[in-house]
Amino acid sequence: MMVDQKFFQHLQLLVIVLLLSWRATFEHSTGMKDGIRCIEKEREALLKFKDELIDEYGRLSSWGNEKYKKDCCKWSGVSCDNQTNHIVALHLQNTLDSELGGTAPLRGKISIWLLEIHHLKLLDLSYNDFNYSRIPQFIGSLGRLRYLNLFGSNFMGEIPHHLGNLSELNFLNLGSFNDGSLTSTNLDWLSRLHSLSDLIMESVNLTMATDWLQTITKLNQLESLFLSSCNLPMVRLPSHFNTSNSLSEFGLWGNEFSSSWIFPLVFNLNSSLNLLDLGFNKLNGEIPISLGNMSSLTFLYLFDNQLTGKVPCPALSSSLTNIDLSGNMFNGTITQCIGSLSKLESLYLGSNNFEDVISESHFFNLTQLEYLDLSNLGISFNISLGWNPPFQLTFLDLSGCKVGPHFPAWLRTQTRLESLDISNAEISGTFPDWFWKQSQKLSRLNVSHNNFQGVLADLSSKFSTFRYIDLSFNHFNGSLPILSHNGSVLDLSNNEFSGSITNLCNETSYHWDFLDLSNNLLSGQLPDCFANLSNLKYLNLAHNNFSGKIPSLNISSSLHLQNNSFTGEIPTSLRNCTSLTFIDLSQNKLTGKLPMWVGDTWTMLVYLSLRSNEFFGSIPSSLCHLAHLQVLDFSLNKISDCIPKCLYNLTAMIQVDPGLDEAFRLRYYGGFETAFVTWKGKEAEYINTLKLLKLIDLSCNNLVGNIPTEITSLIMLVGLNLSRNNLSGSLPTNIGRLRSLDFLDFSRNHFFGDIPTGVSQLDQLGVLDLSYNNLSGKIPQSIHLQTFNDTVFEGNPGLCGLPLTKVCPGDESAQVPKNSDNVHGMKDPKEQEDQLIDVGFYISMAVGFVFGFWGVCGTLVLNNPWRIAFFKLLNNIMDWLYVKIAISKARHA
Ligand SMILES: *[C@@H]1O[C@H](CO)[C@@H](O)[C@H](O)[C@H]1NC(C)=O
Ligand SMILES: *[C@@H]1O[C@H](CO)[C@@H](O)[C@H](O)[C@H]1NC(C)=O
Ligand SMILES: *[C@@H]1O[C@H](CO)[C@@H](O)[C@H](O)[C@H]1NC(C)=O
Ligand SMILES: *[C@@H]1O[C@H](CO)[C@@H](O)[C@H](O)[C@H]1NC(C)=O
Ligand SMILES: *[C@@H]1O[C@H](CO)[C@@H](O)[C@H](O)[C@H]1NC(C)=O
Ligand SMILES: *[C@@H]1O[C@H](CO)[C@@H](O)[C@H](O)[C@H]1NC(C)=O
Ligand SMILES: *[C@@H]1O[C@H](CO)[C@@H](O)[C@H](O)[C@H]1NC(C)=O
Ligand SMILES: *[C@@H]1O[C@H](CO)[C@@H](O)[C@H](O)[C@H]1NC(C)=O
Ligand SMILES: *[C@@H]1O[C@H](CO)[C@@H](O)[C@H](O)[C@H]1NC(C)=O
Repeated sequence: MMVDQKFFQHLQLLVIVLLLSWRATFEHSTGMKDGIRCIEKEREALLKFKDELIDEYGRLSSWGNEKYKKDCCKWSGVSCDNQTNHIVALHLQNTLDSELGGTAPLRGKISIWLLEIHHLKLLDLSYNDFNYSRIPQFIGSLGRLRYLNLFGSNFMGEIPHHLGNLSELNFLNLGSFNDGSLTSTNLDWLSRLHSLSDLIMESVNLTMATDWLQTITKLNQLESLFLSSCNLPMVRLPSHFNTSNSLSEFGLWGNEFSSSWIFPLVFNLNSSLNLLDLGFNKLNGEIPISLGNMSSLTFLYLFDNQLTGKVPCPALSSSLTNIDLSGNMFNGTITQCIGSLSKLESLYLGSNNFEDVISESHFFNLTQLEYLDLSNLGISFNISLGWNPPFQLTFLDLSGCKVGPHFPAWLRTQTRLESLDISNAEISGTFPDWFWKQSQKLSRLNVSHNNFQGVLADLSSKFSTFRYIDLSFNHFNGSLPILSHNGSVLDLSNNEFSGSITNLCNETSYHWDFLDLSNNLLSGQLPDCFANLSNLKYLNLAHNNFSGKIPSLNISSSLHLQNNSFTGEIPTSLRNCTSLTFIDLSQNKLTGKLPMWVGDTWTMLVYLSLRSNEFFGSIPSSLCHLAHLQVLDFSLNKISDCIPKCLYNLTAMIQVDPGLDEAFRLRYYGGFETAFVTWKGKEAEYINTLKLLKLIDLSCNNLVGNIPTEITSLIMLVGLNLSRNNLSGSLPTNIGRLRSLDFLDFSRNHFFGDIPTGVSQLDQLGVLDLSYNNLSGKIPQSIHLQTFNDTVFEGNPGLCGLPLTKVCPGDESAQVPKNSDNVHGMKDPKEQEDQLIDVGFYISMAVGFVFGFWGVCGTLVLNNPWRIAFFKLLNNIMDWLYVKIAISKARHA
């Protein structure tokens, strides 16, 4: 979270800088006198340069041959010298202005006609998209360049050494956000840039550049050096290491430096360093005290390392304004001298193992403090009731600290807060009304996972600024608070809110992206205004008592209505929600025919559960158009007719990696605020585990006919449950292709004939049930199959062979006595059960497959710990994943 926060701070700064420079260009190029100043030859060259660019967004529309466009000095992004009229600057950076509908990169090719602009001093092409091409070598021939910025423009490959000819260069930025696309195997070229003062090569792969250290000692004008995420090798330190006296910013985050290598280097620099960023390296041991000798240091970033011990007072110079030590393993006390760093503006200490108690003296002189992060320290607060802190914070994160049992009274003094996180902080009692009255600037509030109780105030008029509110996992009760409607994320789940939610409709327009009211005691009909919530991406009303028809809805990504009492049919309005990826309508009283249009409208669908409703009719064949579908659950309905043969078209169940990740992530998180990303956080894990889930459950219906053999082409299926239908015919002979199957349940149908030998090849199988059919003949022999309980095969009078006691005709002599001590890998039933719970069981529980597999149509009989786990998992699909991650780890262990 810290990294994100910082990333966006950086980004913000960058956007501001970009906007300023755009404005500067604009003023410059329009503030000229009349009369055409542009030099014809340069104008023609620029037009040819434009010809090879792809300008989808019309950013260069002022560049042209028309009469009124003659003066190239007035073209956007172009600056001419006001005496010689030569073009001296090309500001062609992308605006990155997402407010205006996203970025507008230039693409295509950088033309060699650029060389005709002989007097070019500044070239800024940052944030465009050059499609992972090489940086053109001829840029090295723009001999007068002072400023070259190619940041984030999607270049790839070796940096041309020709750039070393740009001997007048002051500023060079070749960085990017993506790791290692650009490389440089040695930096000899760089050492020729004697005038360089700013060098940024973030994420350039310098693994092979063993001369990097040597090179930077030669750049004796250097002021700012950013070599973050470069994979820099820890080469032998030169005995005598002299850098530029002017070096003031040293940014090396995201390499793999150890303390013993990097600190001696840093201390060898002159002491005028202003910024030192060694975050996200492999620093260990204590912070060296000599750090305190750097008396001009104002920014000290050592986040995400493995530093231990205490933070020694002398290491912190009194000029520090920004300190980030979060994400380390500091285990001593938080030194009280922090309280005397009177210039401190931001202090990030989160996620460490500090031992002491936070007291007022830690903040004694921190009058300038604006950002304070003490998250996940698990420590207590010893702060008096009447404390009047010296600071006014805008950002405060105390999540995971022992702030309670009372709401911190000192927050009364903090009237400028924009972001407050006091989640999981052991606070009880009612939420104070004064807090709402004084926090007019708050845009982000997280008080989840505490013990707040009582009714919330009417907040409808109070906040126009709220973007993110998380009150989940408390005991708030009463009716739903009326909140402002400009937000992006509202999570009131897992509380005791009750009554109807009709007053949601009192507002005229809504902008929530994410609305989670699940696991409350809400009831009544849903108001009609949901259709007006036009930005809604995620709606979760699961596990409440809502009833009546599902109203018109307008959801773009994810819909969770499970475990309510909704009646009627699937609303036709959902037909307009064509980008839905998740639909869970299970455990309601919905009815009607399965809509024929599912596959033609919900083409992005990944997860579809209609389990435990009263749907009838046949499975629409359009379902087979759902190429992304990974979970299909129609169990416990009244679906009749045959299983469609076209299921082989569910390609996501065939591919190892369905290539879904991107689409899925975009739908889920792409449009969301950062707040949401950091909150629901684990997107990578989520996607990974989602890939595991490939399931079809059609159990407990009235299906007839054969199992179409086409189903055996869904080779990545993890679960297949067709139990308790009226299916008949023989089992597909090539069922052995479904090598990933963990669960297979065909029980209680009318299948006949032999069990195909392929079943014995399903060596991932954890659950198998073929009971109560008319299968006959010898059970295929494999060590794995014989580990199953004989109940798996019971109710098939014609079956014989192990693990049944019934011996097959002609096999009498070969029969091994049944209880022969695990010779066939037979597991102790207890152990077998545990293994089930570990590996596959949670997967099936989480998505509601437990019914069929446990052979109980209608009632769910689980003992208590399982029930708790079951509902806990069901109620929040995100939480559920944490468990699953653990399981998938266990599986691979
Ligand atoms: C040229 O521009 C510079 C800076 O923008 C300004 O100081 C100077 O006076 C200008 N010269 C003329 C001749 O306009
Ligand atoms: C980008 O490069 C790829 C492969 O090199 C090429 O297929 C594609 O057409 C290029 N796109 C553009 C916009 O130039
Ligand atoms: C960097 O380059 C080295 C050597 O060329 C290569 O082994 C490594 O995988 C690259 N690293 C990244 C992140 O691309
Ligand atoms: C802090 O951690 C270090 C290294 O793990 C250990 O040697 C030291 O004893 C710990 N100190 C305290 C006070 O726990
Ligand atoms: C706080 O600052 C004042 C003035 O700068 C100084 O005199 C005092 O010693 C400081 N107190 C602490 C505890 O650092
Ligand atoms: C919302 O509107 C309903 C009906 O118009 C009204 O009875 C109710 O008091 C309103 N609630 C609020 C909080 O304004
Ligand atoms: C679906 O969209 C169409 C066209 O955009 C519109 O005419 C229709 O009313 C919508 N249907 C529902 C039920 O919202
Ligand atoms: C298979 O899916 C594609 C779209 O993904 C669809 O166009 C095609 O008609 C489907 N084929 C069958 C037999 O359903
Ligand atoms: C098979 O399962 C039944 C019921 O769950 C149980 O009573 C029986 O002991 C099991 N038999 C074996 C051999 O594990």
